[in-house]
Formats: sequence, structure tokens, C-alpha cells
Amino acid sequence: MPNNNLPGKVSIVEVGARDGLQNEAITLPVKVKVDFINALSQAGLTRIEAGSFVSPRWVPQMADTSEVFAHLPTHSECVYSALTPNEKGMQSAIAAGVGEVAVFAAASESFSHKNINCSIADSLERFAPVFTLAKQHNLRVRGYVSCVMGCPYEGAIKPDAVLRVSQALLNMGCYEISLGDTIGTGTPGDTHNLLATILKDIPPTKLAVHFHDTYGQALANILVALQHGISVVDSAAGGLGGCPYAAGSSGNVATEDVVYMLNGMGISTGVNLTTLVAASSQIFSHLNRPPTSRTMAAFLAKCNRLL
Ligand code: HMG
Ligand code: MG
Repeated sequence: MPNNNLPGKVSIVEVGARDGLQNEAITLPVKVKVDFINALSQAGLTRIEAGSFVSPRWVPQMADTSEVFAHLPTHSECVYSALTPNEKGMQSAIAAGVGEVAVFAAASESFSHKNINCSIADSLERFAPVFTLAKQHNLRVRGYVSCVMGCPYEGAIKPDAVLRVSQALLNMGCYEISLGDTIGTGTPGDTHNLLATILKDIPPTKLAVHFHDTYGQALANILVALQHGISVVDSAAGGLGGCPYAAGSSGNVATEDVVYMLNGMGISTGVNLTTLVAASSQIFSHLNRPPTSRTMAAFLAKCNRLL
């Protein structure tokens, strides 16, 4: 059973500029991305995923990641990270001056093929030079595992499959594994079952959770994760997000909604909600769609009432 000793502090990994913008129909100009990332940092977010060094043919929205990094502050309390699927991506990441990198594997073979064009075992082989270079350049490597509760091609995924890949990534040198519910199908019961298996072998201090909010389960799932001792949560400003290789999957849980919930529970994040809503409003003004964050909508409605 989960214990109810909730953490006093949660570290938020803001993934909107990567997971969010990789999935938008339009590619935003570098300046808009950089202004967005700076606004996120001003809101108090200290772990920001700023882009990915993947094939520009596969994800054109991220093709300008080197340019984005060239315009980010070099001396900042904020760690700016990027996805690196292979040696080529890692070399570009190092040249761009990233603060941290992340490799991304899957617990589903089919998703691995669709997302990174190789099997799970081959993906681990492709990550090996990433770890070697990371060591040489003193960079920490985060590991993602996708489809931890469901796969768009295979359906339900067994917790044991998630555990195997997570352990492999930790053994290779990841300092933290982010468990991704890529298609947002998991419920709190699934989250409990998954963590009951994972936590038998991996301590909660090495885990983060990454929920897409397709079925509106993300906040409830986060609460279950916190009850299991996990205190790192991935989220995206305004609820940006999705995966180009997981059709029908919606945005990440909105950072505003996570911060509002945690504030109400007396759990600190260091994030200023008002400044964050301003940052999200700024980016959504460049996208032709409204944010999905309920907290953001409530904040903006309240502001309009006061005007
Ligand atoms: P591939 O075609 O198997 O790679 O792609 P390859 O090694 O055969 O190379 C083919 C071409 O790609 C070559 O170019 C390479 O140079 C180039 P060509 O000679 O044909 O002109 N290439 C690269 N170019 C730039 N950067 C690179 C790179 N690597 C090869 N790093 C690859 C393999 C992984 C590159 C490809 O499948 C890819 O880019 N996939 C995109 C994956 C992606 O970004 N998915 C979304 C992020 S994951 C996600 O959203 C899930 C997550 O949020 C967690 C969750 O929600 O579950 C993290
Ligand atoms: Mg994701």
C-alpha cells in the first residue's frame, strides 16, 4: 500500500518547450522559443527541457535546437536539457552547450520502432556512446521510458517490461528515470500497480513521472506517485505536449495545474503561478489554439473579471 508521507518539496521538470512544441503544427521562430524558455525560468522553473537533437526529417519543429541553446543564458541557476537519441545527437548537444541530456527508450517494442526506428535492445546500443560522451563532458543523463502503462500499438504494457528497461538505463548511467504515460491512458490504480513493481527494485529518489493528460487522469496519477515517495514531476506550461508517434495522445499535464494542486497541499515547487500563467499566455498567443490548463483558464478569467 502507498504511504501517505507526501514530500515537502517537488522538483518540476518543465517539458513544454520540447514535448509541447515538437507536436505543434507550426514551428515557432527561435526568438519566440527563447523568450518562452526565459519566461519559464523567470517563473521559478529550474529544470527546463529546451529541445531535442533528433532527425530534422522526423521532427522538423526541433531542427533549430542548436540555435535555441545559442541564445539561452550560459550562467543560470536553471539547467537546460535536451533529448539525444544517439551519438550524432549527443555530439550536436555538446557543441550547443547543453546543461544535461536525456535518452529515451520505450517499454513497448512497437512504439520503439515507430518513435526511434529500432528495437528496444538496439536503442540501448545506440545510447552507449551518449553515455561515454556524457562522462567525458561531465554531463548528467536522464532516461525516459515511454508507454509505461499503455502503447498506441500494443495496448496494455506489463510493469515488468517497464522495470527491465528502467534498470537497463540506470545500469548504463542514468541518474533518473522518467516514467512516461505517453498516451495518458493510465488510471491511479494502474499507477499504483506499476509503482508497486518498480519500487521493489528502484528507489523513488531515482524516479520521475511524466503523464500525458489524454483521459484527465494525470493529477490523480501524480498524487499516487507522490504517495509512493516520488518527488520529481514532468509537466508542460499550459498543457502543451504530445508525441508525434502516438496518435491521439494529448498534451502533458499542465504545469499550472500541478503547481496549483501542490500549492494547495503545502508542497513547495519554487514556481510563481502568476508569472507562469504569463509565460504560457505568451506562447499560446503564437499558437492557433487555446491552452488546456484549467488553472490557467481560471486565472485568466479571474483577471478579466477584475479588469
Ligand atoms: P534513423 O533513420 O534510424 O537514423 O533515425 P539513422 O542513423 O539511420 O540515420 C538516418 C538519417 O538521420 C541520416 O541522415 C542521419 O545523419 C540522420 P542522412 O544521411 O539520411 O541525411 N540522423 C540525425 N540527424 C540529426 N540528429 C540526429 C540524427 N540521427 C540520425 N540525432 C532517429 C533514428 C532516432 C534519429 C529518428 O528516428 C528520430 O529522430 N526520431 C524522432 C524521435 C522523437 O523525437 N520523438 C519524439 C520525442 S520522444 C517523446 O516525445 C516521448 C517522451 O516525451 C516521454 C513520453 O511521453 O513517453 C520523451
Ligand atoms: Mg512526453
